[in-house]
Amino acid sequence: MGKVYYISKNVGFGLLVLAGIALVTIIALSIAYDKEKAKNQGSGGDEGADGTGTPSPTTTPLTPEQPWDRYRLPGSLAPVFYDVTLWPRLTPDANGLYVFTGNSTVVFRCVKETDLIIIHSRQLNLTTFGGHHARLRGRGRAPAPSIQRSWFVAKTEYLVLQLSSSLAGGATYELYTEFRGELADDLEGFYRSEYSEDGVTKVVATSQMQATYARKTFPCFDEPAMKAVFNVILIHSRDTVALSNGMEIDSADAVIEGALVRVTTFEPTKRMSTYLLAFIVSYFVSIQSNHNNLLIRIWARKKAIDDRQGDYALNVTGPILQFFERYYNAAYPLSKSDQVALPDFDAGAMENWGLVTYRETALLYDPILSSTGNKERVITVISHELAHMWFGNLVTLRWWNDLWLNEGFASYVEYLGVDHGEPGWNMGDRFILYEVQKVFAVDALASSHPLSCREEEVNTPAEISEMFSTISYSKGAAVIKMLSEFLTEPVFARGLSSYLNTFAFNNTVYTDLWDHLQQAVENTPGMNIPDTVHNIMNRWTLQMGFPVVTLDTRTGTLTQQHFLLDPESVVDRASQFNYTWFVPIKWVKTGVEQQQHWLLHKSDTNVLMKATAAEWVVLNTNMSGYFRVNYDPSNWNRLLRVLSTNHKAISVINRAQIIDDAFNLARAKIIRSSTLALRTTKYLSNEREYTPWEAAIRNLDYYILMFDRTEVYGALQAYLKKQIQPLFEHFKNITDNWSKIPPGHTDQYNQINAIGLACNVGVEGCMDLIKRWYRQWMENPAHNPIAPNLKSTVYCRAIAFGGVEEWEFAWRMFKYSTLASEASRLREAMACTKIPWLLNRYLEYTLDPTKIRKQDATSTIQSVALNVVGMPLAWNFVRARWSYIFQQYGTGSFSISSLVTGVAKRLSTEFELQELKKFKEDNVHVGFGSATLALEQAIEKTRANIKWVAENKALVLQWLTDEST
Ligand SMILES: *[C@@H]1O[C@H](CO)[C@@H](O)[C@H](O)[C@H]1NC(C)=O
Ligand SMILES: *[C@@H]1O[C@H](CO)[C@@H](O)[C@H](O)[C@H]1NC(C)=O
Ligand SMILES: *[C@@H]1O[C@H](CO)[C@@H](O)[C@H](O)[C@H]1NC(C)=O
Ligand SMILES: *[C@@H]1O[C@H](CO)[C@@H](O)[C@H](O)[C@H]1NC(C)=O
Ligand SMILES: [Zn+2]
Repeated sequence: MGKVYYISKNVGFGLLVLAGIALVTIIALSIAYDKEKAKNQGSGGDEGADGTGTPSPTTTPLTPEQPWDRYRLPGSLAPVFYDVTLWPRLTPDANGLYVFTGNSTVVFRCVKETDLIIIHSRQLNLTTFGGHHARLRGRGRAPAPSIQRSWFVAKTEYLVLQLSSSLAGGATYELYTEFRGELADDLEGFYRSEYSEDGVTKVVATSQMQATYARKTFPCFDEPAMKAVFNVILIHSRDTVALSNGMEIDSADAVIEGALVRVTTFEPTKRMSTYLLAFIVSYFVSIQSNHNNLLIRIWARKKAIDDRQGDYALNVTGPILQFFERYYNAAYPLSKSDQVALPDFDAGAMENWGLVTYRETALLYDPILSSTGNKERVITVISHELAHMWFGNLVTLRWWNDLWLNEGFASYVEYLGVDHGEPGWNMGDRFILYEVQKVFAVDALASSHPLSCREEEVNTPAEISEMFSTISYSKGAAVIKMLSEFLTEPVFARGLSSYLNTFAFNNTVYTDLWDHLQQAVENTPGMNIPDTVHNIMNRWTLQMGFPVVTLDTRTGTLTQQHFLLDPESVVDRASQFNYTWFVPIKWVKTGVEQQQHWLLHKSDTNVLMKATAAEWVVLNTNMSGYFRVNYDPSNWNRLLRVLSTNHKAISVINRAQIIDDAFNLARAKIIRSSTLALRTTKYLSNEREYTPWEAAIRNLDYYILMFDRTEVYGALQAYLKKQIQPLFEHFKNITDNWSKIPPGHTDQYNQINAIGLACNVGVEGCMDLIKRWYRQWMENPAHNPIAPNLKSTVYCRAIAFGGVEEWEFAWRMFKYSTLASEASRLREAMACTKIPWLLNRYLEYTLDPTKIRKQDATSTIQSVALNVVGMPLAWNFVRARWSYIFQQYGTGSFSISSLVTGVAKRLSTEFELQELKKFKEDNVHVGFGSATLALEQAIEKTRANIKWVAENKALVLQWLTDEST
């Protein structure tokens, strides 16, 4: 999925706002795509049941007695095709229940003789035939044995049929089931979503199958390698539209069970996995275009389409599809491309083949009301999902343990697609901020885990759900980008295309990709890498973490070590490579790019890297490699001097890297004190670029989180005021006193940072500006004078520094908003108030779906937690309601792990650590589901916070005091 993580990559960074710096708001935008990123922030991932990781909530028995006790299908049967008919009811039945009914015939081949049929089925009521839950027939001449017994296994989500004798190896059979399920509002499987249009509530039936919910829609062999062709028919009322993966090929009225209905038949799908199926019955309307003879449609609520919110998506889809066709050297395999914006959706988006589903904020863009960040998010998520149409859908990893390759790959190439659709946006810079630096934070913990894990380690739905982590998405993207850089893009693309064409409509394991890339290397004369692709990549995928490479420019000596944010943390996960990596190092000497160096051992010397007093060296040019860098003190000093005298001599990305590395090296105590890190921010009074500022702000966010309840905060504010003032004035000038939009894409983000930070630290004129804009809007709600890019920042601060009236106004605007991204900005901004009773009431609202949509509940609680006043309230709230929250979001959902990460962010005292542990103990009986690992990480981070504060508080206070006076 899209970074579903669902919430968005940004969440974590974006919300700090209140406290001090805000920032980022924008960003938020960012990226969350598919489930993908949604889940994400900060949580890490997939732990296996190998004993070294966190135990998962459901334990897999080591020696299951019976085939139906195992979570994996026995593999003796292989589906060929399904005929599936579904009929969702958009009005409740006599008992007030929303239901769907249907039937399905699966034709399957018996691969290995067996007298058992084991097929997934969950929460479905099946009609019985002669006392059994299915009907079995032979195809061709094969007679079918009779069914002796049939039963359900709730734990493994199976329907099991015991047959009177064995099915014949090689023979084909058909199994027919008739079922009835609830069309619940649970965002899983075939589900129900509601929205209101012109005062009327409209119901949509839609679906989310990934990872294990197709079985909740009809009995099926619900594993990614069980590919089959699906012949789908949807029955629906005549005033609705039905969509599925294939194109509609027939639509006819009929009377069924006494009701006049429409029966829509779809063309047979390609051979595909169940998790990519999609079924939608709605009142949506569409706009469409024909790009190179491919039908492209964008579907949404009528009002959204009428307001032209789908235009941008329609404009960019054709070019991006065409870009990927060329990039992969493989034609788009389907006859149409539908993309649908849904009012309720757990992930950010989902790459269903031919029928991609999105949260509204990830697909709709209002040319007048939306911000640049919204636009970037839309094109980024679209690009991510379309990248999956080949990588993931056409060729699918065999099992969920390799999810990181699917998601990491899409999270890398999405940037290439956006670069093509919006040249000039410098998406490469954003990759560093949103993928690399973000995941460094998680992967630097001793509790991290390798990208790749063994197939046997991932079994239960909860274990599968944990695979959707930041590590999978962002580290996957970072190491794949590194791979493509050292192979060079043309060689990488050739290997990729050979992989996709070889395995089309089939399944793979990740080493199949390495094999095809290796072939491409061998077919390229003059191409030299120090070992095979397989051996080089094993260092990055089979061991967790990443190295910090230290260069001593006095001797040219390079050393590498495993970078751990907390140097005292104990790594109990052994690595067969002893935490040594094969590191491709691109580097620059005094502004000149040099020949790439491979560091293959713990230590090595490159005499070219020696530097005189007049020279300086920067390693990891434009952060093309997944590692941090440290230098001897004199090179650090020379770099600080270059920054203060002529910072443009160092590239924008490397400026951001120097700041981010320095702060993290200090936290890890690889460099002795925080002073060097703080010194990298001194030149910022001359910096006008977004990326270095953003890197600095994110790192300073940590200072704010740790110190905003202490006396250090005053000195920090004074220093930041001095640093940000020139940037604030710069934007005031280039926008003609805030009346214009800065022309550059990243300048627009930087302007938001400038205003956000300036207001937080009390720069003259900033607060007045914001209050004036918000007042004007309150006086004339029909006319919002605030520029779309600045809305998040302005709303949040106006509410933070305002009172009940400002809050209530935002609530009214929120309820009234018909643009999802606007509603989402207001929802985050309402968490900015400093009035405790408003915050508590707002927290209560998150449990009432008529006030805050279920999909937004956990991210709203996180927003409150990022507010210094709201933090204790949110923490109390989560503790008090854990069993309810867990029951609502716990089992298959990703949002719960980011909730735990979010509320625990500021915890930094011994007392708070005890509270966190107590929370864990008190709720053992409830469980933590997919948040299990996030909770362990929160405990580890809190310990690290306590130590850091103890060691740095006095020093930081002193430095800031000296610098700000
Ligand atoms: C499945 O249900 C539909 C609608 O009730 C019906 O028309 C169709 O005949 C059923 N299929 C089978 C194989 O019975
Ligand atoms: C399935 O059967 C159970 C038990 O009879 C019943 O409570 C439930 O409502 C049924 N579900 C649907 C969707 O009809
Ligand atoms: C979509 O493309 C059309 C035609 O090029 C253009 O006029 C319109 O402004 C674009 N819309 C958006 C939202 O980008
Ligand atoms: C899928 O790949 C396997 C292993 O490479 C091969 O045996 C099988 O024939 C392929 N199936 C299809 C449908 O291409
Ligand atoms: Zn994805």
